[in-house]
Amino acid sequence: MSLSPKLAKLLNDQINNEMAASYSYLAMAAWFEQTPYVGFAGWMAAQSREETVHALKFYQYLVDRGAKVVLEPIGKPQHDFKSPQDVFACSLKQEEAVTAQINDLYEVAEKVRDHAAKNLLLWFLNEQMEEEKSVRDMLERLQLAGDDPASLLVLDREAGSRSTAPSSFKNGVK
Ligand SMILES: [Fe+2]
Ligand SMILES: [Fe+2]
Repeated sequence: MSLSPKLAKLLNDQINNEMAASYSYLAMAAWFEQTPYVGFAGWMAAQSREETVHALKFYQYLVDRGAKVVLEPIGKPQHDFKSPQDVFACSLKQEEAVTAQINDLYEVAEKVRDHAAKNLLLWFLNEQMEEEKSVRDMLERLQLAGDDPASLLVLDREAGSRSTAPSSFKNGVK
């Protein structure tokens, strides 16, 4: 069964959305690199790699279904932030936007009765739930920490250990 042109177009768009998310996380990592928060820089760099893996997953899916891959330019990401809380709030907004994109994709896949594509998108919906949760949890704790340097450094260390955890992004597959 070949992909419907509409679904193929939207899956191509999603490659771009995931690469834009990856680029945006890289800008967040770069912002943290200019601060003492090395752990958060590592977290954002790991997120960036993870989004690239997502883009490649959509790329490979299109290839496997015999559809054409068309790459579009990626916009300039936001590069300036007010605080660690501000960065994580932006990250959460970004994840919520991606969840909405995948939801829309799932609806189109359902409409054209492409059950194989639904299966792929279901994986992404679960992934989005996890990502939103980990960002939301960290944001809530950052808000509790406020401006207290000791609390912020504890969270930074925790974020740093997460970014090197074996489950996070190693080998480019999940
Ligand atoms: Fe993603
Ligand atoms: Fe994500």
